[in-house]
Amino acid sequence: MAHRLATLVTGASSGIGAALAASFAREPSRVLVLVARRTAPMHALAEEFKNRFGTETQVIEADLEVPGAAAQLLAQIDQLGLTVDTLVNNAGFGLNGPLQDMTLARVSGMLQLNITALTELTHGVVPAMRARRSGRILNVASIAAFQPCPNFAAYGASKAYVLSFSEALAIELETSGITVTAVCPGSTSSGFHAVAGSDRSLVAKFMDSAETVAEQAYKALQNGDSVVVTGWVNKPLPMMSRLMPRTMLARITGKLMAK
Ligand SMILES: NC(=O)c1ccc[n+]([C@@H]2O[C@H](COP(=O)([O-])OP(=O)(O)OC[C@H]3O[C@@H](n4cnc5c(N)ncnc54)[C@H](OP(=O)(O)O)[C@@H]3O)[C@@H](O)[C@H]2O)c1
Repeated sequence: MAHRLATLVTGASSGIGAALAASFAREPSRVLVLVARRTAPMHALAEEFKNRFGTETQVIEADLEVPGAAAQLLAQIDQLGLTVDTLVNNAGFGLNGPLQDMTLARVSGMLQLNITALTELTHGVVPAMRARRSGRILNVASIAAFQPCPNFAAYGASKAYVLSFSEALAIELETSGITVTAVCPGSTSSGFHAVAGSDRSLVAKFMDSAETVAEQAYKALQNGDSVVVTGWVNKPLPMMSRLMPRTMLARITGKLMAK
């Protein structure tokens, strides 16, 4: 039997990922595949999407910090008779504070999730997209990608990777029928700041809703834009990062991100 097309959303159990899942649920021609470690919130979304839009949703539990988990996830999706036609690499977390205060295990897990799993999933889905000459990839970066981020050093660098990787891939794939979009949200109301330990930082005081971010990201993906910075207050950041001396920008960012 021919495989059906699917939209894969990682980190769909809360925040921006759950809001993005709701955007893609309005495309009932594709099966929605929701992935995270907590399955209960994703099953609740699956029920809601079935009732509201008639969308079929598969929920898969996966810890993408575990090496090899991305390949295992793609194999599971294949076994379900699905081909990923839209990949949303959203799962990710940050760690706030000086690097030496973090355990190496936590930092490595973050890099495995934010960088390696995202790269492996992308690498895994592109061949079938190329063969069909159609596909969409949405990678969730951050405004942290535009400058060095003292007190979020490894996280900011991981998001700089996501942005650079996405922009480069968008060009590599521009004649293939596949679009690659990087979304760069500013501070967003979600589980992020509790996980990162940044609830009391200045950046956590001015937040967009996850729904606003998802809406703008979805629109950019539909337009085939390669980068979108969400939230009007964040729009000047890419320009500022080009105009201001980098050390000055890094010092200001460090103050905004201090606990
Ligand atoms: N909120 C912000 O201020 C902000 C700003 C810019 C960019 N972002 C980015 O936006 C993305 C979504 O974050 P969010 O703000 O929506 O935060 P969130 O509410 O904490 O959501 C993070 C999602 O990632 C999943 N996740 C975390 N660790 C995972 C793992 N090991 N394996 C699989 N899934 C995992 C979580 O699910 P489980 O815990 O159930 O596994 C959850 O669904 C992240 O990439 C983040 O870096 C956030």
